[in-house]
Amino acid sequence: MPKPHFENPKHEAEFLRHLERRRTPLKFAFAGSATATHLQLAESEGYQSVVLSVEDEFAALTRLAADLIPPATIVEAGPGDGRHTITLLQRYMQQWAVENYLGLDFSEQLLQHFGSKFRTHFPGISMASAIWDFETGPTSRVEEWRRDDRVLALMVGHTVGNPEAPGIVLKNLRHSLRRKDFLLLSVVLTPSAEETVDSILQPYRTRVFENAALEPLRASGLPDDGAYFEVTWDGSAVIGKAILERPATMLGLDLEAGTEIECFRSYRFRETDVQDLLRSSGWSPLIISARRTSEHTAIIAEAR
Ligand SMILES: C[S@@+](CC[C@H](N)C(=O)[O-])C[C@H]1O[C@@H](n2cnc3c(N)ncnc32)[C@H](O)[C@@H]1O
Repeated sequence: MPKPHFENPKHEAEFLRHLERRRTPLKFAFAGSATATHLQLAESEGYQSVVLSVEDEFAALTRLAADLIPPATIVEAGPGDGRHTITLLQRYMQQWAVENYLGLDFSEQLLQHFGSKFRTHFPGISMASAIWDFETGPTSRVEEWRRDDRVLALMVGHTVGNPEAPGIVLKNLRHSLRRKDFLLLSVVLTPSAEETVDSILQPYRTRVFENAALEPLRASGLPDDGAYFEVTWDGSAVIGKAILERPATMLGLDLEAGTEIECFRSYRFRETDVQDLLRSSGWSPLIISARRTSEHTAIIAEAR
């Protein structure tokens, strides 16, 4: 494993600003040395059970296809390690064409890993990628890349559930696209009343998840055994915290033993929450819960 590090000095400086407030965004757990710890996590069964929902997505696309041929131009925000994208596109291409694909992500290293995997699987698709932090504002990269056809944007695998402000992310995505473009969004739903807290938290109580969540703190100077990791469910989100076992100096900040740093937050949504979020960020939901499982839902929305 590489020595813990940030992808670039800009990431490090931004991380420090969040560390000062004891709450760090999850995006850093995909970049720098955390690319490797994320890739280990993405291979694990628990992770796949949380994010992978190709059946729901494909069912939504099939309903869209009853009215029109789904776009052959696809842009994706947050493709991760690529496993989900590859499975989804393989199914997609059994029925419809894909000619152009643009992958956008916060992490350059993850995008490189993803890009080589994508090109191996789909040599016939013209593929481009670009860095974009979808929490900070819209990107012009889609407009520069696209031609005049309608675009299908993908934000799958609960990517929208992990940033601090999901509504802002959806707004930024909307402002990076044109009217009438589509969005396929898939999320993990609020657990049913029968689910126990233990069963909700079970996929997160693994060494591989803990390593992935703590890697940006380790890049900041947290020693290997310097904190214990705790996950809790607060009724709307799974929250992960590092609690310092002893004093530590991280990026020049002196932190006392017992300091709590929230380094993971994953919101769960009710179906109505997702629709409200979409509407208030410039999207009109078209197809909802085409094949709703108890855990995931996939929604297709159109840019207003
Ligand atoms: C939970 S993973 C999901 C990956 C993939 N869509 C899947 O279903 O397996 C989140 C993805 O979003 C990216 N991401 C997280 N925060 C981001 C941000 N602020 N801007 C852009 N990409 C971000 C991560 O690098 C990662 O690729």
